Amino acid sequence: MTRRVRKAVFPVAGLGTRFLPATKLVAKEMLPVVDKPLIQYAVEEAFAAGIEYCMFITGRGKAVLVDHFDSAPELEAMLRDRGKQEPLAELLGGRPKAGTILATRQQAPLGLGHAVSCARAFTDDEPFAVILPDDLILSDRPCLSQLIDVWSEHGGNVIAVEEVDRSRTANYGILDVAADDGRVARAQGLVEKPQPDVAPSRLAIIGRYVLDPKVMRALESTAPGAGGEIQLTDAIRATLPDVAIHGLRFDGMRFDCGDKVGFIEANLAFALERPDIRPRLVQSLKATVAALEAEEDRTGMAQRTSTAVDAAS
Ligand code: UTP
Repeated sequence: MTRRVRKAVFPVAGLGTRFLPATKLVAKEMLPVVDKPLIQYAVEEAFAAGIEYCMFITGRGKAVLVDHFDSAPELEAMLRDRGKQEPLAELLGGRPKAGTILATRQQAPLGLGHAVSCARAFTDDEPFAVILPDDLILSDRPCLSQLIDVWSEHGGNVIAVEEVDRSRTANYGILDVAADDGRVARAQGLVEKPQPDVAPSRLAIIGRYVLDPKVMRALESTAPGAGGEIQLTDAIRATLPDVAIHGLRFDGMRFDCGDKVGFIEANLAFALERPDIRPRLVQSLKATVAALEAEEDRTGMAQRTSTAVDAAS
């Protein structure tokens, strides 16, 4: 078996219903954080982690995700003619080498596990990464590189995890932990979207994985699970005890860009990292916070006055 992770699967066939109407015609993964679409952050993270080939699992209306990585001869010529070197360099720098971006269609959104299984011919008998572009991670070292480090040590399945509030376990796949050193946890099971009272831990799976090829084989016989969808976590669990599962509490900040508030927070965090944007943004944020505080003071005062009037009458 190849002892390197060369291939990454990007399941991007979801409907993005939480972002309608924006996602009626535009793929969710094309939504920009500052000035770059989510899919480009994901592909750049993969290449930075040593991935050589990327497979997009798309759906109807999502061909633009592949087009985004194509050349744009008219635009490039126009920028060249007008001497706009900076945007031209940005455009050319974001274009991967030909033959490194591949795509296939999921045909029907039957679940994340089903989407990943559409890449079976691509991954063949190799370990592979899975990246969900709507989980955007701000970190010094790419999250996928951190997972590959742990995979180099332990092999098997390695999953990025994050501790979540117990009230939120029903939104995630949750680890059933057998051993935990505070950074890496070995799982003896995984449960998809458990209610808080039955969740085996608060360690939630987020959208970065390094998986053993046996997961791909398990997906072939994985029946629909939570929400009637074919779940990736069910197939990963099915490879136990043959294949170990480790969860890594990665270093970095994760933003759920499939959610409106998460998306706005990601824009703020990534914009604050940019020296060309930060000064004006900080000024504007301070003004917004000051206005909010003044509004709260006014409402608080009005409430106190009306309570006093009620008490007096
Ligand atoms: P989500 O649960 O975020 O679903 O999928 P979604 O359709 O993208 O968004 P909402 O909830 O309707 O707003 C998690 C990831 O799994 C992919 C999605 O594209 C996303 O990257 N996915 C999900 C598929 O590729 N196929 C599926 O059948 C389901």
